Amino acid sequence: MPEQIYDYGMIGLGTMGRNLVYNMCDHGYSVAGFDKDASKVDALGNGAGDRKVLGPNNLKDFVAALKSPRAIMLLVPAGHPVDAVISELKPFLSKDDLVMDCGNSHFTDTDARIGQLAKEQIHFMGVGISGGEYGARYGPSIMPGGAKEAYERVAPMLKAVSAKVNGEPCVTWLGPGSAGHYVKMVHNGIEYGLMQLIAEGYHLLKECLDMSNDGLHKVFSKWNEGRMKSYLIEITADIFAQNDDLTGNRLIDMILDKSAQNGTGQWTSQSAMGLYLPISVIDASVSMRDLSALKEERVAAQKILQWHKVVFKGNDSELVDWLENALYFSMITAYAQGMSLLQRASKEYNYGLKLDEVAAIWRGGCIIRSVLLEDILAAYSTEPSLPNLMINKQMALKLETCQDGFRLAVKTAIETGVPVPAMMASLAYFDGYRSGWLPANLVQAQRDYFGAHTYQRIDRKGIFHTEWNQTQK
Ligand code: 6PG
Repeated sequence: MPEQIYDYGMIGLGTMGRNLVYNMCDHGYSVAGFDKDASKVDALGNGAGDRKVLGPNNLKDFVAALKSPRAIMLLVPAGHPVDAVISELKPFLSKDDLVMDCGNSHFTDTDARIGQLAKEQIHFMGVGISGGEYGARYGPSIMPGGAKEAYERVAPMLKAVSAKVNGEPCVTWLGPGSAGHYVKMVHNGIEYGLMQLIAEGYHLLKECLDMSNDGLHKVFSKWNEGRMKSYLIEITADIFAQNDDLTGNRLIDMILDKSAQNGTGQWTSQSAMGLYLPISVIDASVSMRDLSALKEERVAAQKILQWHKVVFKGNDSELVDWLENALYFSMITAYAQGMSLLQRASKEYNYGLKLDEVAAIWRGGCIIRSVLLEDILAAYSTEPSLPNLMINKQMALKLETCQDGFRLAVKTAIETGVPVPAMMASLAYFDGYRSGWLPANLVQAQRDYFGAHTYQRIDRKGIFHTEWNQTQK
């Protein structure tokens, strides 16, 4: 077997891994692929054409085929499989080799792995990759973090294979340690938020207007021609037009209303809670996936928790218009919450994130790409330490113009009993954030009353406690 002639190694030849290998080859790189599942190695070879790929059947030969110092990418499921691959691979690696974990690993695992491999002088990077199968094949958004010198080694390849927006590659070094995986996690949190908001819009149109799938296809297609133009709105429009091969019905109506998840949305919420940073739209989205999974309970509860249905009597096109405002407004808040979490995490974990660069590499290739990201990029380019996207002048103006329609859409949801928790969370977040005064004084008084937890005053500095006039009940 030829030794040390392949530029890169790829472990994990599932859909993402295989397509990324072909993408790399099409940009002039030779790649050796490895997977424990021999059928996946065969599939790589079968689809390779005259691309320079190799599929050895053991890790030793795989490593031996790579140019030194080696650069190996992992595209295996997060968690234990990553550790298992690392421990099997480690005996064959040498000083200065680089391992890139391109899956959705938890950022704390990435930090731990960087530390472990550093002891052997092996570099480890956490590289978030977004864009699904098509993105992997033709250009994903890539979110690398780790040692800058390690990134520089692989930057030409990552730039070559990434998506491009106005000729700019959708990849940049984001920061040290787990910065890349943190940014990818928050990308997914925003993804959860946008998906839930869109689903709520669909629910309202279906419930209140009894809109057909053709009607929904038209509405979402039209929205995708305007300020909400984005990958998720685009695929939503497509989904409503898809027929089911098995029944001839529309496929959307044949899909069970139980959503699954792989954990990144939940991790985003957990991380934000740990940092005392509110991301209520994303939290609501995770909760709604959990609620949807309780299908059997919901079906049973439907018979018990009766509520007289209020029929929407308004004007159809008016509701569509309110909803366009509602979705646009709430999508801005989903991005705003994600960005504010990145701002907070960057300080906490010393990532040194530049949010304009994050927005720039999200404009192409990834699941949350949208024209709105151009405005978000502009906002953070002019104000890099903006504490919240909503207070950028342009964004504040957008929110202001959508506010009335948004409130009417939420009011309609309340009156008709359609659950729109992510939209409600978005509106409450906006109303809470713009409130110079909140009733937290009462919460503080209660805490001090029952637990002597103390409070601060508005008229003098210091920490105070009161012996409240407690009545024994
Ligand atoms: C991407 C996606 C991807 C994610 C899926 C499924 O950026 O390409 O975020 O990484 O795995 O969207 O996520 P859930 O199974 O949690 O919905």
